[in-house]
Amino acid sequence: MTIEVPCCSKHNTGLMGLDVLVTGATGFIGVGVVDYLKSREDNVRVLLRPESDAGKASSMQVDILKGSYDNPASLREAVKGADMVIHLAGVTRSVDEKGYYNGNVLPVRNLLESVVEVNPGLQRFVLVSSLAAAGPADNPDPGSREEDIPKPVSIYGRSKLEAEKIVRSYKDRLPITVIRPPAVYGPGDRDVLQFLMMLRKGILFAAGNVRTQRLSLVHVDDLVRGIVMASESPAGVGEIYFITSPKGYSWEELSMAAAEKLGVKHIRTVSLPKPLMKAFGHAAGLISRITGQSGFLNPDKVNEMVQDYWVCSPQKAERELGFTASIPLKEGMCSTIVWYRERGWL
Ligand SMILES: NC(=O)c1ccc[n+]([C@@H]2O[C@H](COP(=O)([O-])OP(=O)(O)OC[C@H]3O[C@@H](n4cnc5c(N)ncnc54)[C@H](OP(=O)(O)O)[C@@H]3O)[C@@H](O)[C@H]2O)c1
Repeated sequence: MTIEVPCCSKHNTGLMGLDVLVTGATGFIGVGVVDYLKSREDNVRVLLRPESDAGKASSMQVDILKGSYDNPASLREAVKGADMVIHLAGVTRSVDEKGYYNGNVLPVRNLLESVVEVNPGLQRFVLVSSLAAAGPADNPDPGSREEDIPKPVSIYGRSKLEAEKIVRSYKDRLPITVIRPPAVYGPGDRDVLQFLMMLRKGILFAAGNVRTQRLSLVHVDDLVRGIVMASESPAGVGEIYFITSPKGYSWEELSMAAAEKLGVKHIRTVSLPKPLMKAFGHAAGLISRITGQSGFLNPDKVNEMVQDYWVCSPQKAERELGFTASIPLKEGMCSTIVWYRERGWL
């Protein structure tokens, strides 16, 4: 393990703040968490795996610790002396179940073991899980609540739930918090980008009914704020929170929020029947297994896409943490579109 401390690290400037290890720092949400913590003058360290985007990590101006989740010595070094661990690293797409386990479950177990060994006084261990661990709601109003029995419908969701169970099994030894975001959008995201790219052509694809299907959504800046609020709140110890928009949106509402900025006047809706979507998913999954590349579509993702209500309730986070999402959907979509355009993504 080697540690690289860039010249303008806060350790060098003598600023005092929390020492926070952020994993998955080079990912879409991780970049936002690192920026937010740095803006508060916390001391941020990130774990850089051999597979990580080293260029992106070095441009972050944070302490970089090299290691991997199957190397306990490197994890012990990474967590030593940290006040807080925000574990975002994970796999949202994999060609097989093993990939989800290795990316979402094993790192959590090994990180927690390292914390117990070398940093039992850690102030908080935060797992960023997913609404997928809870599964879809039976009813869009109020949607899934934290106390509901989880019913994940995908391998991804089951792997995130398994990770949650591991974290909760440490509840008596460490102050833990679990965050379950719904779909996250904002600068840097590539999933909502796919939706916007089709919408720009005036086409809205949906794996169901565009008026009745509902999904919760959160802007990455709101999510980052919510993660940090939950991490610091004494009320958050041992708890699970959905950090989410105030309501679930239909595909039609989502399209309307983006259409004007995209310059789209007419939207043609293509509602693909669920059996057809499943057939596409199986075909795409087969190609992924042959090529070894996890694509946008696979049977697991299709199982998620055909659900009617990916909605979760914001009430517990509001009541216990005082968190409410502050970025209105239209405003968030418009600024995200501008960001994509500036980079030529859209
Ligand atoms: N985006 C969403 O809509 C959404 C919604 C709900 C929950 N989440 C959860 O939020 C977390 C971050 O999501 P994201 O959207 O930022 O994902 P992302 O952009 O794919 O980033 C995930 C990061 O995890 C690390 N990683 C990748 N493969 C890994 C592996 N096999 N083992 C360990 N670490 C690996 C990488 O960071 P390093 O190279 O820096 O290690 C990667 O940048 C994930 O745990 C995800 O399940 C995301």
